Amino acid sequence: VRTAAVIPAAGLGVRLGPGAPKALRTLGGTPMLVHAVRAMAASRAVTHIVVVAPQDDPEGVRRLLDAHPLADRTGLTVVPGGTTRQESVRRGLAALPDGIDVVLVHDAARPLVPVETVDAVIAAVRDGAPAVVPALPLADTVKQVEPRPQGTPEPVVGTPERSLLRAVQTPQGFDLPTLLAAHEIVVEGEGATDDAGLVERLGKPVVLVPGHEEAFKVTRPLDLVLAEAVLARRRA
Ligand code: C5P
Repeated sequence: VRTAAVIPAAGLGVRLGPGAPKALRTLGGTPMLVHAVRAMAASRAVTHIVVVAPQDDPEGVRRLLDAHPLADRTGLTVVPGGTTRQESVRRGLAALPDGIDVVLVHDAARPLVPVETVDAVIAAVRDGAPAVVPALPLADTVKQVEPRPQGTPEPVVGTPERSLLRAVQTPQGFDLPTLLAAHEIVVEGEGATDDAGLVERLGKPVVLVPGHEEAFKVTRPLDLVLAEAVLARRRA
Protein backbone atom coordinates (compact mmCIF):
# COMPACT_ATOMS: atom_id res chain seq x y z
CA VAL A 1 0.00 0.00 0.00
CA ARG A 2 1.39 3.39 -0.99
CA THR A 3 0.30 6.52 0.85
CA ALA A 4 0.52 10.14 -0.31
CA ALA A 5 -0.52 13.44 1.25
CA VAL A 6 -2.13 16.46 -0.44
CA ILE A 7 -1.62 19.73 1.45
CA PRO A 8 -3.96 22.56 0.40
CA ALA A 9 -2.03 25.75 1.18
CA ALA A 10 -3.57 28.22 -1.26
CA GLY A 11 -5.77 30.12 1.22
CA LEU A 12 -5.17 33.77 1.93
CA GLY A 13 -5.74 33.59 5.66
CA VAL A 14 -7.87 36.72 5.80
CA ARG A 15 -9.05 35.95 9.36
CA LEU A 16 -5.45 35.97 10.56
CA GLY A 17 -5.13 39.68 9.74
CA PRO A 18 -2.99 41.48 7.13
CA GLY A 19 0.25 39.89 5.87
CA ALA A 20 1.58 37.09 3.67
CA PRO A 21 -0.63 34.13 2.61
CA LYS A 22 -1.28 32.12 5.77
CA ALA A 23 0.82 29.07 4.88
CA LEU A 24 3.89 31.27 4.41
CA ARG A 25 3.71 32.97 7.81
CA THR A 26 6.36 31.74 10.18
CA LEU A 27 6.14 29.80 13.43
CA GLY A 28 9.36 29.59 15.39
CA GLY A 29 11.08 31.19 12.38
CA THR A 30 9.91 28.47 9.93
CA PRO A 31 6.97 28.88 7.49
CA MET A 32 3.77 27.18 8.63
CA LEU A 33 3.71 25.21 5.36
CA VAL A 34 7.16 23.74 6.05
CA HIS A 35 5.92 22.54 9.46
CA ALA A 36 2.86 20.97 7.80
CA VAL A 37 4.95 19.22 5.14
CA ARG A 38 7.34 17.88 7.80
CA ALA A 39 4.38 16.67 9.88
CA MET A 40 3.23 14.50 6.95
CA ALA A 41 6.75 13.36 6.04
CA ALA A 42 7.26 12.32 9.69
CA SER A 43 5.07 9.31 8.99
CA ARG A 44 7.16 6.51 7.51
CA ALA A 45 4.14 5.45 5.44
CA VAL A 46 3.98 8.69 3.44
CA THR A 47 5.97 8.35 0.20
CA HIS A 48 4.83 11.45 -1.68
CA ILE A 49 3.51 14.93 -0.83
CA VAL A 50 1.64 17.30 -3.16
CA VAL A 51 1.58 20.91 -1.96
CA VAL A 52 -1.16 23.10 -3.44
CA ALA A 53 0.40 26.57 -3.46
CA PRO A 54 -1.07 30.07 -3.67
CA GLN A 55 -2.05 30.58 -7.31
CA ASP A 56 0.17 33.61 -7.92
CA ASP A 57 3.49 32.05 -6.86
CA PRO A 58 3.89 28.26 -7.05
CA GLU A 59 7.54 28.73 -8.08
CA GLY A 60 8.24 30.69 -4.90
CA VAL A 61 6.71 27.89 -2.81
CA ARG A 62 8.81 25.32 -4.68
CA ARG A 63 11.97 27.31 -3.88
CA LEU A 64 10.92 27.66 -0.25
CA LEU A 65 10.38 23.91 0.10
CA ASP A 66 13.63 23.11 -1.72
CA ALA A 67 15.37 25.22 0.93
CA HIS A 68 13.91 22.92 3.63
CA PRO A 69 14.64 19.47 2.18
CA LEU A 70 12.89 16.29 3.34
CA ALA A 71 14.39 12.83 3.77
CA ASP A 72 15.03 11.14 0.39
CA ARG A 73 12.18 8.68 0.78
CA THR A 74 9.52 11.40 0.33
CA GLY A 75 8.73 12.83 -3.12
CA LEU A 76 7.40 16.38 -3.49
CA THR A 77 5.23 18.04 -6.12
CA VAL A 78 3.99 21.66 -6.05
CA VAL A 79 0.91 22.75 -8.03
CA PRO A 80 -1.04 26.04 -8.11
CA GLY A 81 -4.31 26.17 -6.15
CA GLY A 82 -7.85 27.26 -7.01
CA THR A 83 -10.30 29.80 -5.68
CA THR A 84 -11.90 27.40 -3.16
CA ARG A 85 -10.41 24.78 -0.88
CA GLN A 86 -12.34 22.10 -2.78
CA GLU A 87 -10.84 23.19 -6.10
CA SER A 88 -7.37 23.31 -4.55
CA VAL A 89 -7.71 19.74 -3.27
CA ARG A 90 -8.99 18.61 -6.66
CA ARG A 91 -5.89 20.06 -8.33
CA GLY A 92 -3.68 18.35 -5.77
CA LEU A 93 -5.33 14.98 -6.38
CA ALA A 94 -4.82 15.40 -10.14
CA ALA A 95 -1.07 15.73 -9.52
CA LEU A 96 -0.62 12.50 -7.53
CA PRO A 97 1.89 10.03 -8.95
CA ASP A 98 0.69 6.59 -10.14
CA GLY A 99 0.40 3.71 -7.70
CA ILE A 100 -1.05 5.57 -4.69
CA ASP A 101 -3.75 3.65 -2.76
CA VAL A 102 -4.25 5.83 0.31
CA VAL A 103 -4.36 9.62 0.31
CA LEU A 104 -4.28 12.05 3.21
CA VAL A 105 -5.61 15.59 2.84
CA HIS A 106 -4.02 17.90 5.37
CA ASP A 107 -4.54 21.64 5.90
CA ALA A 108 -1.33 23.65 5.82
CA ALA A 109 -3.07 25.60 8.57
CA ARG A 110 -2.62 22.64 11.00
CA PRO A 111 1.18 22.71 11.18
CA LEU A 112 1.64 20.95 14.51
CA VAL A 113 -0.32 17.71 14.14
CA PRO A 114 1.66 14.92 15.87
CA VAL A 115 2.83 11.91 13.83
CA GLU A 116 0.81 9.57 16.08
CA THR A 117 -2.39 11.15 14.75
CA VAL A 118 -1.19 10.88 11.14
CA ASP A 119 -0.32 7.21 11.62
CA ALA A 120 -3.64 6.44 13.33
CA VAL A 121 -5.55 7.86 10.35
CA ILE A 122 -3.46 5.87 7.85
CA ALA A 123 -3.85 2.66 9.88
CA ALA A 124 -7.64 2.98 9.95
CA VAL A 125 -7.79 3.43 6.15
CA ARG A 126 -5.48 0.45 5.67
CA ASP A 127 -7.79 -1.55 7.94
CA GLY A 128 -10.59 -0.98 5.43
CA ALA A 129 -12.36 2.30 6.24
CA PRO A 130 -12.91 4.32 3.01
CA ALA A 131 -12.75 7.65 4.90
CA VAL A 132 -11.18 8.46 8.27
CA VAL A 133 -11.29 11.72 10.20
CA PRO A 134 -9.50 12.74 13.41
CA ALA A 135 -11.98 14.39 15.77
CA LEU A 136 -12.34 15.79 19.29
CA PRO A 137 -15.36 16.50 21.51
CA LEU A 138 -16.41 20.14 21.76
CA ALA A 139 -15.70 22.34 24.75
CA ASP A 140 -18.29 24.94 23.77
CA THR A 141 -22.02 24.47 23.39
CA VAL A 142 -23.07 25.17 19.78
CA LYS A 143 -26.15 27.12 18.66
CA GLN A 144 -27.77 26.94 15.26
CA VAL A 145 -28.91 30.36 14.05
CA GLU A 146 -31.10 31.94 11.43
CA PRO A 147 -28.75 34.00 9.23
CA ARG A 148 -29.20 37.80 9.31
CA PRO A 149 -27.26 40.64 7.64
CA GLN A 150 -24.02 41.45 9.45
CA GLY A 151 -24.51 43.65 12.49
CA THR A 152 -28.08 42.43 13.10
CA PRO A 153 -28.68 40.04 16.04
CA GLU A 154 -29.17 36.44 14.86
CA PRO A 155 -32.08 34.51 16.36
CA VAL A 156 -31.24 31.04 17.72
CA VAL A 157 -33.21 28.20 16.17
CA GLY A 158 -31.74 25.28 18.09
CA THR A 159 -29.08 23.75 20.32
CA PRO A 160 -27.72 20.41 19.06
CA GLU A 161 -26.82 18.03 21.88
CA ARG A 162 -23.15 18.73 22.55
CA SER A 163 -22.23 15.17 23.48
CA LEU A 164 -23.16 14.09 19.94
CA LEU A 165 -20.98 16.70 18.19
CA ARG A 166 -17.31 16.43 17.21
CA ALA A 167 -14.87 19.01 15.91
CA VAL A 168 -12.97 17.48 13.01
CA GLN A 169 -9.36 18.01 12.10
CA THR A 170 -6.92 16.90 9.41
CA PRO A 171 -5.21 14.86 8.06
CA GLN A 172 -8.34 13.16 6.78
CA GLY A 173 -7.49 9.83 5.16
CA PHE A 174 -9.13 8.11 2.20
CA ASP A 175 -8.98 5.16 -0.01
CA LEU A 176 -7.97 7.08 -3.19
CA PRO A 177 -10.76 5.86 -5.54
CA THR A 178 -13.34 6.90 -2.92
CA LEU A 179 -12.01 10.46 -2.65
CA LEU A 180 -11.67 10.82 -6.43
CA ALA A 181 -15.29 9.69 -6.87
CA ALA A 182 -16.46 12.10 -4.17
CA HIS A 183 -14.72 15.06 -5.81
CA GLU A 184 -16.17 14.03 -9.17
CA ILE A 185 -19.84 13.98 -8.15
CA VAL A 186 -19.90 17.05 -5.95
CA VAL A 187 -20.44 20.32 -7.77
CA GLU A 188 -18.26 23.27 -6.85
CA GLY A 189 -20.07 25.82 -4.74
CA GLU A 190 -22.12 23.35 -2.72
CA GLY A 191 -20.07 24.43 0.25
CA ALA A 192 -18.18 21.41 1.58
CA THR A 193 -15.67 22.63 4.19
CA ASP A 194 -13.91 19.27 4.43
CA ASP A 195 -13.24 16.28 2.20
CA ALA A 196 -15.01 13.70 4.35
CA GLY A 197 -18.19 15.75 3.86
CA LEU A 198 -17.96 14.98 0.13
CA VAL A 199 -17.61 11.26 0.85
CA GLU A 200 -20.70 11.42 3.10
CA ARG A 201 -22.67 12.74 0.12
CA LEU A 202 -21.52 9.66 -1.82
CA GLY A 203 -23.25 7.60 0.86
CA LYS A 204 -20.03 5.91 1.98
CA PRO A 205 -19.17 5.48 5.66
CA VAL A 206 -16.87 7.97 7.37
CA VAL A 207 -15.29 6.92 10.66
CA LEU A 208 -13.56 8.93 13.37
CA VAL A 209 -10.31 8.33 15.21
CA PRO A 210 -9.19 10.41 18.21
CA GLY A 211 -7.86 13.80 17.15
CA HIS A 212 -5.18 15.77 19.01
CA GLU A 213 -5.27 19.17 20.69
CA GLU A 214 -2.06 20.14 18.88
CA ALA A 215 -3.73 19.54 15.49
CA PHE A 216 -5.73 22.78 15.94
CA LYS A 217 -6.15 25.06 12.93
CA VAL A 218 -4.24 28.33 12.95
CA THR A 219 -7.04 30.68 11.93
CA ARG A 220 -7.06 33.78 14.13
CA PRO A 221 -4.24 35.86 15.64
CA LEU A 222 -4.54 34.12 19.04
CA ASP A 223 -3.89 30.76 17.33
CA LEU A 224 -0.43 32.03 16.34
CA VAL A 225 0.35 32.74 19.99
CA LEU A 226 -0.77 29.23 20.96
CA ALA A 227 1.20 27.63 18.11
CA GLU A 228 4.38 29.47 19.13
CA ALA A 229 3.88 28.26 22.70
CA VAL A 230 3.41 24.63 21.62
CA LEU A 231 6.59 24.81 19.51
CA ALA A 232 8.57 26.38 22.34
CA ARG A 233 7.41 23.62 24.70
CA ARG A 234 8.49 20.95 22.18
CA ARG A 235 11.90 22.53 21.83
CA ALA A 236 12.43 22.92 25.58
O1 C5P B 1 -10.19 28.49 4.79
P1 C5P B 1 -9.92 27.24 5.56
O2 C5P B 1 -9.43 27.51 6.95
O3 C5P B 1 -11.00 26.22 5.50
O4 C5P B 1 -8.66 26.61 4.81
C1 C5P B 1 -8.18 25.34 5.13
C2 C5P B 1 -6.99 25.01 4.25
O5 C5P B 1 -7.37 25.06 2.87
C3 C5P B 1 -5.83 25.98 4.43
O6 C5P B 1 -4.63 25.22 4.56
C4 C5P B 1 -5.85 26.81 3.16
O7 C5P B 1 -4.57 27.25 2.73
C5 C5P B 1 -6.44 25.85 2.14
N1 C5P B 1 -7.12 26.54 1.02
C6 C5P B 1 -6.68 26.31 -0.30
N2 C5P B 1 -7.29 26.95 -1.36
C7 C5P B 1 -8.30 27.83 -1.14
C8 C5P B 1 -8.76 28.07 0.18
C9 C5P B 1 -8.16 27.40 1.24
O8 C5P B 1 -5.76 25.53 -0.51
N3 C5P B 1 -8.82 28.46 -2.20
